[in-house]
Amino acid sequence: MSKKKASFTAQGLAYMRAYHAMHDNPKIFDDSLAYHLFTEDERAFFENAWTQVPKLYDPERAASLPDRAAAIAWTLQTITPGPSMTLGRSRYTEENLEKAVGQGSKQYVILGAGFDTFVFRRPEMLEKLQVYEVDHPATQAFKRDRLAKAGWEQPVQLHFVPVDFEQESLAEALTRSSYDPQARSFFSWLGVTYYLTRDAVFTTLRTIANLAPAGSAVIFDYLDTDAFIPEKAAKRVKILIRDTRQVADEPMITGFDPSALAADLARLGLRLQENLNPFDIEKRHFRGRKDGYYPCEHQHYALAVVE
Ligand SMILES: C[S@@+](CC[C@H](N)C(=O)[O-])C[C@H]1O[C@@H](n2cnc3c(N)ncnc32)[C@H](O)[C@@H]1O
Repeated sequence: MSKKKASFTAQGLAYMRAYHAMHDNPKIFDDSLAYHLFTEDERAFFENAWTQVPKLYDPERAASLPDRAAAIAWTLQTITPGPSMTLGRSRYTEENLEKAVGQGSKQYVILGAGFDTFVFRRPEMLEKLQVYEVDHPATQAFKRDRLAKAGWEQPVQLHFVPVDFEQESLAEALTRSSYDPQARSFFSWLGVTYYLTRDAVFTTLRTIANLAPAGSAVIFDYLDTDAFIPEKAAKRVKILIRDTRQVADEPMITGFDPSALAADLARLGLRLQENLNPFDIEKRHFRGRKDGYYPCEHQHYALAVVE
């Protein structure tokens, strides 16, 4: 991503969560606060863009849509996988975070936090938790400006850790903060591995394994390697990979082989506890829905524990 500009994908995903919270039921993930982090112009920008997508994707069917709301719903639920990707993984993460806190985790480290609203949505969880939002300085500065404009009081348990992973390691960045390496911790790393090299992903995971005590855990999502093979990739994932490069200037470059992940992580000091594929994700979070949401093809969730 650009060194100076806040991540565009982080903003887009947050507004997808916001739109879902305002318009869909039942909720896959209820990010009831994200809406307030956007200006009227930004909301209009995203909604206008989503209104145009059906015409580009399937002009004939687009012509039959009754109104703008129907066009947006079709875009978000079916055409673009972004909403399913972010809603499912955020729900999975916070469900597992609750379990981890019950088992003694004291710190929640949100890597590549973007416009995550956890600390403001879940104040009851802060009785037992220190939260570290680790993100690129440009994205974090932008978010902090929005938090200030929203007038939200920042809890003392919230710690901002700016870091550019291309310049500095996670360990160095956390060492600058009040992060306690002795305390059991829970890390999330959502929507970020796609944009990094394989080496950078494994370096960060190794850092977590070295930095956090045994029993700490990390959740991250990843695309499988088929997503990057045009003959094998699902149509909407091919479009996503094209658009994140061409429109957002945040190219997706890396996928992983789900069948090799357990061995890859074991070499880093992590035990792969869960490795969900789109079918597993459908069963957990999407089955029975009457709208069009379904899990993103090629997206997987990994839950790994520090040995
Ligand atoms: C697709 S967004 C995901 C945001 C959030 N986790 C979510 O699910 O909505 C990717 C995030 O990774 C961060 N990021 C990308 N490259 C980075 C880098 N080199 N150093 C630190 N953070 C980076 C961006 O700032 C952004 O917040």
